[in-house]
Amino acid sequence: MNKLVNEARRQRPRIVVGISGATGIIYGIRALQMLRELDIETHLVISRAGEMTREYETALGRADLHALADVVHPLADVGASIASGSYRTLGMLIAPCSVRTLAEIASGVTTTLLTRAADVALKERRRLVLMVREAPLHAGHIRNMLTVTECGGIIHPPVPAFYTKPQGIEDIVEHSVARVLDCFGLEVHSLQRWGESSPGSPDNDEAEPAIAGTRNPMAGTDRSGAEAGLPKPSLRRRGGGCAKASVPQRRSHFGHDLPAAESDRGARALVEIDRDAWTFKKENR
Ligand SMILES: Cc1cc2nc3c(=O)[nH]c(=O)nc-3n(C[C@H](O)[C@H](O)[C@H](O)COP(=O)(O)O)c2cc1C
Repeated sequence: MNKLVNEARRQRPRIVVGISGATGIIYGIRALQMLRELDIETHLVISRAGEMTREYETALGRADLHALADVVHPLADVGASIASGSYRTLGMLIAPCSVRTLAEIASGVTTTLLTRAADVALKERRRLVLMVREAPLHAGHIRNMLTVTECGGIIHPPVPAFYTKPQGIEDIVEHSVARVLDCFGLEVHSLQRWGESSPGSPDNDEAEPAIAGTRNPMAGTDRSGAEAGLPKPSLRRRGGGCAKASVPQRRSHFGHDLPAAESDRGARALVEIDRDAWTFKKENR
């Protein structure tokens, strides 16, 4: 019995990544790269339209994209491991998620492994995060988003944040994907969080204290919170043992070669994961 428990603990955490045919395949690509940096085992399934957007939007060949995942499942293989709730995963991310795929998930009438795996995540009460991308939206799209939300899924459209002062598309993509990985309890070290900004950024807390007439404890500090008795952001954890890994990057996430300075910047990035986030909860078995 003990042996069985130990075997289970040795397994790497797994996430299913679906890529459907909405524009923005870069979100799925970056998610696969970041999950690899976090030592998460990825199971990839791509719709036919997803393969089309890869061709339109990137310089990556089919094999290049597949090489970013640990396991690639054929779209039609509804007998694959990820089609069963007994196969343990942290859940599923669909990035990007088309409104067609959203509609299948909302209806529960799943025709491919991609949507079957999403249905499994919902029925097993695991995380299902959909980076739905369409605009404008009609009432049917919005109703489908509500249905998936009511079933426990998270609708997480790739909407950029500008308080991070992104220097380009890659910063915007990185931030959106990092926020999505947050939904799985994964800690991406490079994620800039509001209220945990870097030294030298404007101190808005001084201008507008949290409670009128009081001084915000964060105001006038080095913004790391050290003077307020808070740990440094880079050391904040959601539990025990964190692992750090460097992120080697020679090509842009779109598959294009990067100038040296860009790739150096990527190589310096650090990721941090809370290993305790991965637990095989009894009720999920
Ligand atoms: C270049 C391109 C961009 C597209 N962008 C979107 C989009 O942003 N959102 C969307 O819902 N569908 C978009 N589509 C349409 C979907 O690919 C299409 O509805 C397809 O049937 C979705 O199938 P899937 O959900 O199985 O991937 C796009 C198609 C192409 C070729």
